[in-house]
Amino acid sequence: MADIILGIESSCDDTSAAVLRDGVLLSNVIASQQVHKDFGGVVPELASRAHEQNIVPVVSEALRKAGVAPEDLTAVAFTRGPGLLGSLLVGTSFAKALSLSLDIPMVMVNHLQGHILANFVRQPDKPVDEPEFPYLCLLVSGGNSQIVKVKSPLDYEILGQTIDDAVGEAFDKCSKMLGLGYPGGPVIDKLAKLGDPNRFHFAKPNIPGLDYSFSGIKTSLLYFVRDEMAKDPEFLEKNKEDLCASFQKTLIDILMQKLIRAAKETRIRQITIGGGVSANSGLRERLVAEGKKRGWKTFLPEFKFTTDNAAMIAVAGWFRYKAGERTPLDVAPVSRMADY
Ligand code: KG4
Repeated sequence: MADIILGIESSCDDTSAAVLRDGVLLSNVIASQQVHKDFGGVVPELASRAHEQNIVPVVSEALRKAGVAPEDLTAVAFTRGPGLLGSLLVGTSFAKALSLSLDIPMVMVNHLQGHILANFVRQPDKPVDEPEFPYLCLLVSGGNSQIVKVKSPLDYEILGQTIDDAVGEAFDKCSKMLGLGYPGGPVIDKLAKLGDPNRFHFAKPNIPGLDYSFSGIKTSLLYFVRDEMAKDPEFLEKNKEDLCASFQKTLIDILMQKLIRAAKETRIRQITIGGGVSANSGLRERLVAEGKKRGWKTFLPEFKFTTDNAAMIAVAGWFRYKAGERTPLDVAPVSRMADY
């Protein structure tokens, strides 16, 4: 009998549900919340309320699009953490209610594991192109920056990670500083395409091993802009594109330098990226270019699987389900989740 998995994702400000049959995606519905736009960031209380409103219609729509009745489901996979507690509580409670009422098991998923396995979302009528184990994943999002050695679908080793801010945070905070809005990544990405990446130079951190640091570059940009504005109050407006292009290039240089080192040290040549920042066009181009130069096989998740989505949660849940994992009904969501 086929395994039909319902995935539920509610860790931040996207309510998403997806249906997977034996690893093939039948539907993936995402409701993004607009209520945060005016606040320059996600407001946790508003996020959980919006999840409450969205969860029933989003799950119903995912089942309808997949042509699957609730009774057909084999298991329900859900994001347990990390994320906003109130948001996670909505998805977790919904998964529990479904599990109880349909008498099917539930399987918890670490949200980051979903990003790491995003390349395993199989789609009907699309050729399968998946990394071989072990591979390296550059996991870059609003809350994390890690280089992960993926030994099998459920066995990971974190080779390096940020010691302070995540790279997505650097994009978001600097965008706010430059008055460009939230979320910063997509705006900076767009403006960077119009600018000169070699015009300005920002100090890069010198961190041992494969770890990252992104807090210094924020300060570097802040002081640079402040000093230039003192000389010319229109500096920012006149140089927005070049500033974004140069800032983005610096972040990509930092990310790639350690990734290249990790690939050399581990001799692994299957490289993937995941997480919200993996949507960045500059990073994607650079990864492909470095891959060509160094004989890597690179894998870029489709844009729709880079930001938060339940398809990746359903895939991770399916792997865990097949490995025999079951989550008890008394599970609680967690805002931090160190273990995969
Ligand atoms: O993975 P994600 O959707 O949420 C979590 O953090 O879990 O990542 C969100 C982050 C934000 O910091 C956002 O600015 C960044 O991903 N992001 C981008 C781009 N699109 C989203 N950063 C750079 N370039 C982009 N095109």
